[in-house]
Amino acid sequence: MPKPLSGTDNTKIEDPLNTAFEIYRDIIPDFSLFQESLEKPFPVHLRMNRLLAAPSKVVSRLRERGIRLTQVLKAYDTLFVAQNLPYPGNLLEYFLGYFHPQAMTSALAALAMRPRKHALVLDMCAAPGGKSAHLADLVENTGFMVCNDLFSNRHVPLGHTLSRLGVQNAVVTGYQAQEFPLRHPFDYILADVPCSCEGKFRITSKKTFYREDKGKTKLPDTQKKILLRGFDLLKADGEMLYATCTYNPAENEAVINSLLNHRDAELLPIDLKVAFEPGLTEWNHETYDKRLARTARFYPHQTDSVGFFMARIGHK
Ligand SMILES: C[S@@+](CC[C@H](N)C(=O)[O-])C[C@H]1O[C@@H](n2cnc3c(N)ncnc32)[C@H](O)[C@@H]1O
Repeated sequence: MPKPLSGTDNTKIEDPLNTAFEIYRDIIPDFSLFQESLEKPFPVHLRMNRLLAAPSKVVSRLRERGIRLTQVLKAYDTLFVAQNLPYPGNLLEYFLGYFHPQAMTSALAALAMRPRKHALVLDMCAAPGGKSAHLADLVENTGFMVCNDLFSNRHVPLGHTLSRLGVQNAVVTGYQAQEFPLRHPFDYILADVPCSCEGKFRITSKKTFYREDKGKTKLPDTQKKILLRGFDLLKADGEMLYATCTYNPAENEAVINSLLNHRDAELLPIDLKVAFEPGLTEWNHETYDKRLARTARFYPHQTDSVGFFMARIGHK
């Protein structure tokens, strides 16, 4: 039951921590652990940037200065958690582009895509650029990447991230992703769409994170259009990743389900060495395509990071 708080006038007010996600009680496993995880401080994760320095050297250099770094997941030797580094952006190594502070689940998006070298890559919603820079790292600055974001003020942090991290294979564009005008087909497309950001609860203000409409109105519509446009730009053997940082099925499974209803799309398995739950095949009296179980839900009590959703998509 939601925990009531006492207001100053003795009225009962609801504790947002306990009520905000109540609607997901039946779909989030170990719900009480999930709720507890929301009260824990958010860990500082660093992704080592192989474009500018050897990760092992950077890790040794930081450890010599007393920074406690631990590899987050055995399988990924570029992802670390820093136990005593509240402001990683103050370090010289940050300015040198040797690492990027990035939530672990956010870094998993590019790892799930695993783009091959010399590929043509489109990042439809790219700012502030953490995932674009990671993709450039994985293709070792080969091929060509279009980093698109609608808002020109977001191009400043995007350009900064790309240049600080030594990305040399990218251009920045400013189109509406759902009407992305270039017609050339891409090998890999990332649609890390605007969303209600519920998964960022631990790092955003409790008061501003929550959108009352739960994305029922405009967001899913935009997300569906972006996904559709992305899919239409995908080469026959290309791969696309749809990602959000929300738990809301209306912005996750329902969006993918809509693509499956309108295009000959297939859902590809997500091969990541980290705990995640399969996507839902029903929600709120709606049934989705059974293949939605191939999508992935990431929860903070399982990953100690931002809540996330991913679907890997190809042509049938
Ligand atoms: C979740 S953020 C992307 C984060 C980014 N991928 C990263 O890893 O740093 C979503 C982005 O979509 C952009 N955006 C919002 N609506 C858009 C649209 N219709 N077309 C393109 N970009 C849009 C926002 O400006 C925002 O930067």
